[in-house]
Amino acid sequence: MIEQEDAAAIVRDLVIGNVADPFPLYDRLREIGTGVHWSDVLGAWVVTRYDDVKAMVGSHEAFSSDTFFDGAPGIHNPDDPEQRRFISISSRQFIFQDPPTHTRIRSIFRHAFTKQAIKRWRATMEDVADEVLSRYRPGQELDIMPGLAADIPVAVIASMLGVPRERWGQLREWSESFGRTLDPGVQGPLRDQSIGTSLEMMDYLGDLLHQRRADPQDDLISLIATTAADDGERLTDEEAISQLTLLLAAGNDTTASLIGSAMTLLIDHPDVKQELKDDPSRIPVVIEEMLRFDPPFHLNFRKARRDAVFGGEQIKAGQMCFQVIAAANRDPRQFGDPNTFDITRDASKHLTFSHGIHFCVGAPLARMEGEVVLSKILERFPDFSAGSTPPVRRANNILARGWHSRPVTL
Ligand code: HEM
Repeated sequence: MIEQEDAAAIVRDLVIGNVADPFPLYDRLREIGTGVHWSDVLGAWVVTRYDDVKAMVGSHEAFSSDTFFDGAPGIHNPDDPEQRRFISISSRQFIFQDPPTHTRIRSIFRHAFTKQAIKRWRATMEDVADEVLSRYRPGQELDIMPGLAADIPVAVIASMLGVPRERWGQLREWSESFGRTLDPGVQGPLRDQSIGTSLEMMDYLGDLLHQRRADPQDDLISLIATTAADDGERLTDEEAISQLTLLLAAGNDTTASLIGSAMTLLIDHPDVKQELKDDPSRIPVVIEEMLRFDPPFHLNFRKARRDAVFGGEQIKAGQMCFQVIAAANRDPRQFGDPNTFDITRDASKHLTFSHGIHFCVGAPLARMEGEVVLSKILERFPDFSAGSTPPVRRANNILARGWHSRPVTL
């Protein structure tokens, strides 16, 4: 009983305690009792051990992803027709769908995002990274989080989608607004404004979709506009626009976090940095350990479809469940000496990209982008080091705990 109260207090700290470093709390939560805890603050179960997290996210028959209206993305004013229009589009993202809708929409992406298929974007990615990095000079100090870490992913996805270059800056602002609608802390006028701006983006993407349907190009918008799903039908306009916004929402902040943690880990581990400078072919393996050690998404969520027993706890149909990816990735039952950043380990079984039918569709892209960006940074700024103030992790976002600021001297 005392243990369960401890666990509830730790979750409370994680949610509202402004904790600077959540990892020691994840370690404690995972080792208390069965590692499965009820949280009143979240009104949900919290699951922390590797096997349990993997089993839960992988059991789509028992744990549903139909959670759009259970969390921040669905918060809106139902009396406002424009907000209803926004919700009608954004609730169709396939990350929030179960089969058969999930299977149908995901089938569009099956070929476009494989490791093999995304190789064709490598040259574009290199050009974008070169262009962004050329704005900075060695010795310059900057906070990379609003700077190069955020600039590169949005420019990469914009060029893949086929958004004209003169609109990239605008797309970044729009997608940041859309990102705000996913944050439960954003309420009132700021939410209204974020929804309004997101609708401008959706309307713009809708125009591009119509153009590409009439005149297809070699880009992702054309692919989404013209590819038939596995039922032989194309996506409707609302469905297609929704998936375009999902690519922006799921890919930008996460990849920016990966760049932030990659630079942080190399600053903290100069021996590893030297090794990568000597042998850049090691970069992909090191990125896997970076993804395990400091995942961009700390939590995933599902809703129980039926009663289930997990870790000895009785979960009831309809209850929300959070799976703590960041705790599972450091479970000593799966990874030896898990709190050590160790580039010689096989980190590939990490759960950073989830598991099962919702496994991140953009994982091959994120991995390649991490590799391209890190090798370009090491080439251009081989002596990069910590800036004059310490980095600060996000404390107010339980899902995405990447760096809020990461000062670096290039
Ligand atoms: C390091 C970067 C990234 C991380 C850590 C990450 C993480 C994740 C996770 C954990 C999920 C699964 C959610 C669940 O199980 O419910 C997911 C799904 C998804 N991700 Fe990523 N992601 C990254 C980059 C990207 C990129 C670059 C894109 C595309 C441009 C992308 C597109 C998606 C999409 C479309 C889904 C939904 C898949 C589905 O529900 O079937 N992600 N991602």
